[in-house]
Amino acid sequence: MTTLTPVLTKNWDQADSFTRGGYERGGGYEALRKAFRMNPDDIVQAVKDSGLRGRGGAGFPTGMKWGFLPPSSPNPRYLVVNADESEPGTCKDIPLMMANPHVLIEGTIISSYAIKSNLAFIYVRGEVLHVIRRLHQAVAEAYEAGYLGKDILGSGYDLDIVVHSGAGAYICGEETALLDSLEGFRGWPRLKPPFPAVAGLYGGPTVINNVESIASVPSIVGNGPEWFAAMGTEKSQGFGIFSLSGHVTRPGQYEAPLGITLRELLDMAGGIREGHRLKFWTPGGSSTPIFTDEHLDVPLDFESVGAAGSMLGTRALQIFDETTCVVRATLRWSEFYAHESCGKCTPCREGTYWYKHMLKRLEAGQGTEEDLETLLDISDNILGRAFCALGDGATSPVVSSIKLFRDEYLQHFEQGACPFDPAKSTLWGGAK
Ligand SMILES: Cc1cc2nc3c(=O)[nH]c(=O)nc-3n(C[C@H](O)[C@H](O)[C@H](O)COP(=O)(O)O)c2cc1C
Ligand code: SF4
Repeated sequence: MTTLTPVLTKNWDQADSFTRGGYERGGGYEALRKAFRMNPDDIVQAVKDSGLRGRGGAGFPTGMKWGFLPPSSPNPRYLVVNADESEPGTCKDIPLMMANPHVLIEGTIISSYAIKSNLAFIYVRGEVLHVIRRLHQAVAEAYEAGYLGKDILGSGYDLDIVVHSGAGAYICGEETALLDSLEGFRGWPRLKPPFPAVAGLYGGPTVINNVESIASVPSIVGNGPEWFAAMGTEKSQGFGIFSLSGHVTRPGQYEAPLGITLRELLDMAGGIREGHRLKFWTPGGSSTPIFTDEHLDVPLDFESVGAAGSMLGTRALQIFDETTCVVRATLRWSEFYAHESCGKCTPCREGTYWYKHMLKRLEAGQGTEEDLETLLDISDNILGRAFCALGDGATSPVVSSIKLFRDEYLQHFEQGACPFDPAKSTLWGGAK
């Protein structure tokens, strides 16, 4: 399997891809018209039948999530689109919203209609001002065309979309912290249950989905669930955007069926930068255990990546060649987690702090072999004991790098210094 499946990315090379006109020229908003001829429950069923699983990392079946909403509730229902994209390496939602915001808006309208919500929010990462502006513009265009507001296209259905910008905290991508933030509080994860489907935003039944999940809905409604389910693998159906970054000849977003391998993606991306070879990579962002060149042929679907010891996550393929110090990479990731830990629970707050300090020492060649055991012990105390998945994610690079590259850690304190010349790696600016 080496073919790409451009659906969400199909118009990205057109100069006006982000405008309503550009989107409509390629058939945009036709699925919305079709959706209004369908019963909302049939749309939920179509999404279930398609096999679409959440594209935000955990891979929970989208249609099933929608089905968890209670049939009746005194509070209004809400759809919240998670556009906080902050996981190191993940770079799909932001380019998607920049190049093709209308596919997200069309998906938001169809999804809101399906779950019977009249108010939807798009929660965008605060730092990406250019994307926020683009979304505001696209929402305004959709109102002008009668795709939003009252009695959309004469269907009798009303919907408003609010674009909300966060303040740039990774934790606000965690769905319940996002809800707190949207309500105006500090973004801290909530205790579950109750799950958002029962008591979410302002206590109302709420569906929270990733940008790419919602943007996939128009193509499912337009082409039918069988069309979507025919792509990918038996349990990981459809297509997804794979973001290749780091030491690769042509980094970027490659939209392909789930189950494609890194070897196939690298073939299309021109391989590892010239004169170098693959050392390690993340299959789904920094929160997923690293892989090596032994994993080049692992099908990138939820099941196969899990069976090989990692997670598909957000398909953020960060590629590192032999010039990269794995201890240094792990330190950088750990600094990120220590900075982004919200501090609510002890295992993550304290554990990420100690990760950062111990890895700094190890990277400088001043650690001991006992430190590796302490790092693994700290990881045991975070994994499964932290309040939210940020803590679990923080353990992934530490545990997997010690497992796969223990010798490289040992080399650091045997030599009393980092054995790598930072100037040779093009990542992180070279200098320490
Ligand atoms: C620390 C942390 C950050 C997260 N960031 C995001 C994010 O930026 N975007 C996203 O869609 N999901 C993110 N998630 C996952 C969400 O909690 C949630 O599972 C997801 O939005 C559900 O959407 P989906 O079912 O469509 O994948 C994050 C989770 C954690 C623990
Ligand atoms: S795991 Fe980390 S980010 Fe999550 S609640 Fe605990 S301290 Fe906060």
